Amino acid sequence: MAPKLALLGGTPVRNQPFTSWPVFGKTEERRLLRTLRSGQWGRLHGTEVAEFENRFAVMHGCRLGIAVVNGTVALRIALLAAGIREEDEVIVPPYTFFSTASSVIEANAVPVFADIDLDTFNLDPRAVEAAITPRTRAIIPVHFAGQPADLNAIMAIARKRKLTVIEDAAHAHGAMYRNRPAGSLGHMASFSFQSSKNMSSGEGGIITTNNGRLAEACRSIQNCGRSPTGLWYEHHVISGNYRLGEFQGAVLNAQLDRLEGQTQTRDRNGQYLAAELSRLPGIHPQKRPGDCTRHSYHLFMLRVDGRKFGAPRVAVIKALQAEGIPCSGGYGYSLPRQPMFRNKTFGPYLPNASARLNYRKDSYPNSDLICREQCIWFEQSIFLGRRADMDDIARAMEKVYENREALKAWSRRA
Ligand SMILES: Cc1ncc(COP(=O)(O)O)c(C=O)c1O
Repeated sequence: MAPKLALLGGTPVRNQPFTSWPVFGKTEERRLLRTLRSGQWGRLHGTEVAEFENRFAVMHGCRLGIAVVNGTVALRIALLAAGIREEDEVIVPPYTFFSTASSVIEANAVPVFADIDLDTFNLDPRAVEAAITPRTRAIIPVHFAGQPADLNAIMAIARKRKLTVIEDAAHAHGAMYRNRPAGSLGHMASFSFQSSKNMSSGEGGIITTNNGRLAEACRSIQNCGRSPTGLWYEHHVISGNYRLGEFQGAVLNAQLDRLEGQTQTRDRNGQYLAAELSRLPGIHPQKRPGDCTRHSYHLFMLRVDGRKFGAPRVAVIKALQAEGIPCSGGYGYSLPRQPMFRNKTFGPYLPNASARLNYRKDSYPNSDLICREQCIWFEQSIFLGRRADMDDIARAMEKVYENREALKAWSRRA
């Protein structure tokens, strides 16, 4: 007989924590102290942010990087640099963090949702094609969880329609598509360094590009609308101060030293766990197409089909947590179901377009299904551990499966 679930009074599979996050050490300390003592705490006179911009861009296949205060602002600046205007349409996936679409509204443009593929959890190029109208100007594919979206197909659509592609690479530091780095696949890309991300300075972001004209526009918007040849108190375009500070630059330089090794570890562990878990009925780890030559596993995601597995997702999550495996269901709704979209509470943005928009009526069956009943997330720091940690997760899932009848009965009572 299978050992009893910890949720029902049995012994947990695991009682040790997984790798904690953030990971830091002497390099962060040394760079931070040097910055402190230099007295150059702002980006304008320091060297850390400038060094980081260059190193990060080169590692991600780009000539140019513009560091900013967070990933949300990075997306908005990229949209403004691309020349997006009021009522232009920008195609985004419904299954992503709020900022992918809110940044479009904050650029006074209209987010148009195209559903994701149920297996890869990334934007489906056929849905993108179907969402295009004469007003479409840009696409923001998200490399969700750290697995590159199908950029060959998306760039082909963009070329045909003369659209700008901005990769939302908030999850994809170090990820590769056909051996090319995420961040170098579209016209521009945006990364985040918020606390949970695969490299972090608490808050922060960067735009990467190989296009000098777009980089110059981003740089100007990041720096109060200044121009490289203009006077200091001369402001050419509407913008603000979105410059990253030197302390964050110092931490990011140190974090960048670790990125390659950490990404290899996460990818190795993630692939191993995916192979282990996919043996169980009803468990579908994020499908990895051959084009993904490196997954950065910001998240390890799977779908659980409750009918085939024998217990509903909410109960599976509770049971895994009780076994000592941290996990969650991720987003509760796809973006068009968020109150902000349902109620069109767009503040001062889209004063004219708002009246004709109706986000309540459209259907995004794949995004809705995984939000409502199927998705489970495991966070990136777990994948910095050893293979034995992956075995614990696989053993816990097997134990939950073996106890599915008892778990189903528990969930009916709960
Ligand atoms: C997919 C995605 N895009 C954009 C962002 C925004 O990044 P930030 O939190 O740095 O503003 C996030 C962050 O959580 C994200 O997950």
